[in-house]
Amino acid sequence: MTKNTKKKYKKILIWNFSGTGNARFSANYIAKTAREAGYHQVSVYNIADKQQDYSEIQNNCLIGFCFPTHGFNAPPIVLKFIWNFPGRKADVFLLNTRAGMKFFNIHTPGIGGLALWLPALILLIKGYNPIGFRPIDLPSNWIYLHPGLNSNAKQFIQNRSSITLRNFTHKILKGKSVLNGWLWFPLDIMLVPISLGYYLYGRFVLSKTYFASYKCTNCGLCIRNCPVGAIKYVNNRPYWTFSCESCMRCINHCPERAIETAHGYSFLIWWLAFSIVPMFILNGLLKYRIISAELYHEHYSLLFNIITFIFGFIIFFFGYLILHQLLRVRILNKLITFTSFTRFKFWKRYKNEYPV
Ligand SMILES: Cc1cc2nc3c(=O)[nH]c(=O)nc-3n(C[C@H](O)[C@H](O)[C@H](O)COP(=O)(O)O)c2cc1C
Repeated sequence: MTKNTKKKYKKILIWNFSGTGNARFSANYIAKTAREAGYHQVSVYNIADKQQDYSEIQNNCLIGFCFPTHGFNAPPIVLKFIWNFPGRKADVFLLNTRAGMKFFNIHTPGIGGLALWLPALILLIKGYNPIGFRPIDLPSNWIYLHPGLNSNAKQFIQNRSSITLRNFTHKILKGKSVLNGWLWFPLDIMLVPISLGYYLYGRFVLSKTYFASYKCTNCGLCIRNCPVGAIKYVNNRPYWTFSCESCMRCINHCPERAIETAHGYSFLIWWLAFSIVPMFILNGLLKYRIISAELYHEHYSLLFNIITFIFGFIIFFFGYLILHQLLRVRILNKLITFTSFTRFKFWKRYKNEYPV
């Protein structure tokens, strides 16, 4: 323990939100490294907890936030939490976990978009001094897009990231700034439209792609484990509401591997929502002279997008209600499961069980 580090902070308080364990691992790893460096008052809190105790926060504390990147942004629960976080004049660090991958012997990074920038800006306005500001690339849990990584790749990524985390912690404990997040600024800024699109639209669409297959035993683990209480029983089956954060905890923890992404069915609904239905509505508006031919031809794309936006939610909502009913019929449930990529054996699940 150096005198410097002892003098610098009285306590270290770290909040995390985690779907599959990467951000929780990062928070605990930083806490462990800080304890090894002689800090005795180190606490790790869960952002998803309903009751929060802010009484420990003082100006001489180091405050930290660890959270995953979702759709090139911080998850809504994290943004909301930081928005409501009490203001202080303390040092703060932000660490977003991204989708790390391994290609041959190369550890490839994810992309953060606004994930660091928005929370940092909010904290800056609240009076905090962001001294640590960096992404960390742990094994990707984005398994509706790709199968979970094999154990070799996970270990490789985990080892590298652990070294990065340790170095990061040692530096900020000495009061040195670690602002690697800035390296990503040009790319992150270019992704703002996609970040916003995911935040305002994409995440709601994604929440309507999960379902419990015929293998579901109704054990209720997904419902109990959901950090935002987004899964409920409807007709005695798990049902994903719009408040789902797509954190992937349910799909990765189901003991029966009974939670799938409805790829086939979702493509059908997306085709209806983004193509067929807006086209029919626009043509109907023209046919019944609700809009003029001039308006139709001159602003077709704009009108198409507005209709898609408005009716998209409705189509996804009813599409999911219909899906829920179809799943009750075993043969249809099998068919919907059959057209899902996640049902393949090689489509591995992911959770971070690496010991801290
Ligand atoms: C819905 C969703 C969106 C994601 N978006 C991104 C992204 O934009 N950029 C990225 O690098 N990783 C993205 N990821 C990957 C996760 O951020 C990454 O695997 C993270 O380490 C998971 O942390 P956790 O285990 O604490 O939940 C996404 C994952 C999910 C499930």
